[in-house]
Amino acid sequence: MASRRDFLALSAVAAAAGMAAPRLMAAEKGSDSDQGRRDEALPNNPPLTMDRFPPEHKYGVGGTQMGNMYRVTSDEEARAMLAAAWEGGARYFDTSPWYGLGLSERRLGHFLFDRDPSQYLLSTKVGRLLTPDASVESVGMWKGHLRTDYRYDYSADGVRRSIEDSLQRMGVSKIDLVYIHDLAPSNEDMGEKWKDYFEIARKGAIPELERLRDEGIIGGWGMGVNDIEPSLAAMEAGDPDVILQATQYTLLNHRDALDRLFPACRRHNVPLVIGAPLGSGFLAGSTHWMYDTSIPEGLEQKRDRISAIAEAHGTDLRTAALQFTAAPDVVGATIPGARTAEHARENDASMTADIPADFWTALKSEGLIEEDAPVPVQR
Ligand SMILES: NC(=O)c1ccc[n+]([C@@H]2O[C@H](COP(=O)([O-])OP(=O)(O)OC[C@H]3O[C@@H](n4cnc5c(N)ncnc54)[C@H](OP(=O)(O)O)[C@@H]3O)[C@@H](O)[C@H]2O)c1
Repeated sequence: MASRRDFLALSAVAAAAGMAAPRLMAAEKGSDSDQGRRDEALPNNPPLTMDRFPPEHKYGVGGTQMGNMYRVTSDEEARAMLAAAWEGGARYFDTSPWYGLGLSERRLGHFLFDRDPSQYLLSTKVGRLLTPDASVESVGMWKGHLRTDYRYDYSADGVRRSIEDSLQRMGVSKIDLVYIHDLAPSNEDMGEKWKDYFEIARKGAIPELERLRDEGIIGGWGMGVNDIEPSLAAMEAGDPDVILQATQYTLLNHRDALDRLFPACRRHNVPLVIGAPLGSGFLAGSTHWMYDTSIPEGLEQKRDRISAIAEAHGTDLRTAALQFTAAPDVVGATIPGARTAEHARENDASMTADIPADFWTALKSEGLIEEDAPVPVQR
């Protein structure tokens, strides 16, 4: 039976022909419309296969830093970062109730409030419900006076309530994508119990999100997780539109995703959004690798070697890291987190820079990336 996405893909092919002409005309007139501007170093996504996913450009913005990850970020910093990202052409924004216990959603909603919803793509997440609690200060990696507590809820009612809460918190009328968040073995609150939580989601969250999609309240749903197993399980249990796979596909770790995740995505026709494409900062020079300061043996040397080869080829580590994650055909978007306006501008520049093909050949010949890893095609 043709899935909803197959149907939309067919419709999109027909629609694309009609859409191309006005867009070309706008370009000829030098229109600086709300479409976002971009030199096309990386291939764009093929015509839309879902209502609005994948985005036209493969570059989006993560929402963890706006939620005070690792340190307090000011309202001004967050707003300047978003403004710079928008100015650079980014039109996909990801957040979650979990990021700063509502703070990231509030800041993003405030920024998007004056903007035409048809011009951007917004994703948030479900799985944790928030409640006010004046006694709560920092929670784990989220810093500052949060004054909010949380509890897990992957039931149908919980998911619906979470989406209603997010709509109100952000002040938007529609959410494009909703990810089932952190339902995964590496979530320290779960470990192997993730399977019990998944069973709740299989009966509750998943069918409810498919209902909400059919009702048009959300555009689509997927998993937003740091492990591959739940992503595979969701593609078997339901009909996700997209998977946000974090921490599993970067320049420094990609074997498992190539072997297990990509084939499943192709089989089920599910595109990926790549979360933590900079390894939570390590590939942009920070001391965190995947939200931890204990760095696996040999990883620093590998990073530094790649960085040296990048410099020798006139590029840089961050640019290579970002473009690497956007290169595969199964990837709809890569969403680096940015703390400052400067980060947003630099990441945008990285996405549009040229990287010589010899650079990728050099990495493969030294065994620094997998031989079969897709790499960006030079212009
Ligand atoms: N389970 C899930 O659904 C899940 C999990 C993880 C991530 N995600 C999504 O993926 C997004 C990206 O992940 P992430 O932000 O955690 O990690 P990331 O994109 O791998 O790394 C972001 C960090 O890199 C550093 N950075 C970024 N741009 C930089 C630049 N131009 N120059 C120097 N440093 C730069 C910043 O570190 P400093 O802050 O130290 O400056 C920033 O915090 C998240 O925001 C979230 O939306 C989802």
